[in-house]
Amino acid sequence: MKSHRHMLCLTLSLLAGGVPALADERESYLQNKWVEKPLPGVAPVDDARYKEACGSCHFPYQPGLLPALSWERLMAELSSHFGDHAELPPDEANAVRNYLLNNAAGRNNYAVSAKMTAIAGREPPLRISELPYFVKEHAKVDLQRVKDNPEIRSLSHCNACHTRADEGSYSEQEIRIPQAQAGAGQP
Ligand code: HEC
Ligand code: HEC
Repeated sequence: MKSHRHMLCLTLSLLAGGVPALADERESYLQNKWVEKPLPGVAPVDDARYKEACGSCHFPYQPGLLPALSWERLMAELSSHFGDHAELPPDEANAVRNYLLNNAAGRNNYAVSAKMTAIAGREPPLRISELPYFVKEHAKVDLQRVKDNPEIRSLSHCNACHTRADEGSYSEQEIRIPQAQAGAGQP
């Protein structure tokens, strides 16, 4: 009872203005609040199991890069995954699927995620690199040069060019295309 009353006092004093201003907006996202203004980029990956299961062959794409329907389709076809076998044991597959669906584009307020949700009435693609917003943003990239460059090889390797991709940051200022002559899209 005593500690209960103590809690009440604490709560009241917090309500009275004792709450320290949230350190930053990211922190308020972590408390599951929909923030007023979209945060930049996408939410970084915060699930070690996902990183391990899906980050061994390529960059572990942030869940917020694809709409939930795309993740759902992709997780249903892991035995033939872009020519690879990526099947997981059932319990692991379930955990990964839940993580992806709960954090898919449209499930939180990040600017890049919001743009990735635009699929223009089409069936949701399996690839981030086939989403209309992605295609539009990469229209100037020379695909042959990407293919010929062993440091990039395909547009699927986000972190080959986006130096802070693993933090969920894709801003233009942070792009470094390996080998300057491959640099389409740079000022
Ligand atoms: C055995 C290797 C392997 C594993 C494990 C794997 N992938 Fe892939 N994944 C690939 C290959 C190969 C591609 C095609 C890459 C390319 O075209 O350059 C790909 C492509 C993708 C793409 C499309 C990227 C784009 O172009 O937009 C997504 C999304 C994806 N994988 C998600 C996952 C998820 C989620 C998991 C975990 C369940 C996973 N991958 C595990 C091999 C793998
Ligand atoms: C070959 C290098 C390269 C690869 C690989 C690449 N990108 Fe990009 N990305 C670019 C360039 C160049 C731009 C255009 C920047 C501009 O408009 O000046 C861009 C733009 C973007 C933008 C828009 C940024 C903004 O602020 O307007 C996003 C989001 C993005 N890329 C995400 C991705 C994701 C996700 C992947 C992996 C699936 C990826 N990119 C792979 C080079 C690359």
